[in-house]
Amino acid sequence: MAGTEALISLDGVEKVFDVRRRVSLMRREKRQVRAVDGISFEVARGEVVGYIGPNGAGKSTTIKMLTGILTPSGGRLRVAGIDPARERMRLAHRIGVVFGQRTTLWWDLPLKDSYGLMRRMYRIPAARYRENLERCVDRLDLAELLDVPVRQLSLGQRMRGDIAAALLHDPDVLYLDEPTIGLDVVSKAKVRGFLRQLNAELGTTVLLTTHDLQDIEQLCERVMVIDHGRLMYDGPLGGLHAARPGAESERTLVVDLEREVGPIRVEGARVVRVEGPRQWLAFPAGASAAPLVAAVAARYPLVDLSVREPDIEDVIARMYAGRG
Ligand SMILES: Nc1ncnc2c1ncn2[C@@H]1O[C@H](COP(=O)(O)OP(=O)(O)OP(=O)(O)O)[C@@H](O)[C@H]1O
Ligand SMILES: [Mg+2]
Repeated sequence: MAGTEALISLDGVEKVFDVRRRVSLMRREKRQVRAVDGISFEVARGEVVGYIGPNGAGKSTTIKMLTGILTPSGGRLRVAGIDPARERMRLAHRIGVVFGQRTTLWWDLPLKDSYGLMRRMYRIPAARYRENLERCVDRLDLAELLDVPVRQLSLGQRMRGDIAAALLHDPDVLYLDEPTIGLDVVSKAKVRGFLRQLNAELGTTVLLTTHDLQDIEQLCERVMVIDHGRLMYDGPLGGLHAARPGAESERTLVVDLEREVGPIRVEGARVVRVEGPRQWLAFPAGASAAPLVAAVAARYPLVDLSVREPDIEDVIARMYAGRG
């Protein structure tokens, strides 16, 4: 349900870090790291956008600039019409942030005391606070945890607690930096279900960084891929497959033969792996597997077979590989 108004906009945004490295006892070397190297995109109100890329790509740095924690080295950046670095406090009322790797909650306080502090910090009106807290407690299963000090919570419980904390003041935008990292399957499902509902019911805009491609598959219609501080792709998840020439995805036919033979030779597929009597044949994702199966069965002692669909992790890896 995306509107037309751009809630987040970046125009040629850069972040350069000066890093000093000791190269020997006497000498230090100064080096610049271009963590974000000229990124432009817009996110409309109500969108859920995935922001993905390999380690060190610049994802967290981008999120930190979008919250005002870091000041861009160049370019223009606006969130809800606000320049984050210049008006960080005013922006804080419009955004919620969850960093999966660390908590914003007070370690020694019971969850509900942390929430009380948030309420005072953000001057949240009593009725609204109660309503938001109730919704989060209900949907994120927090009722039993409210009196527990944060340090005693499991990672999944803490993450749910953190997500609630980020939403008590009704932000327009929620930034999530690896919100499912380290969570078990059940906790991940809970978090994803909650975010879907949040977006559907309140229209909260979500920018999500993750290494878990299921997060993207289940939550995001749009995905941006960043590498070395540059935007490599921006579009629907399905389009990633066709993002680069030579990077179109392949399906894999896995065949079990009666015995070990040399690599199978059939038209329209190539062997990518052999393990004893089992062989893996890659073929274009758009092609039918039927003729291939028939050709293999006609000439080889076929016992069993299965077809594997391409996953996006594989597709993204190809995309990087295709970049000279
Ligand atoms: N405060 C800093 N000082 C110097 N270099 C930094 C700083 N923060 C990040 N970097 C560097 O900037 C680059 C981008 O880092 P960033 O944390 O944004 O990556 P990321 O995409 O979030 O990676 P990950 O998937 O590992 O979380 C990396 O090379 C990193 O080492
Ligand atoms: Mg990161």
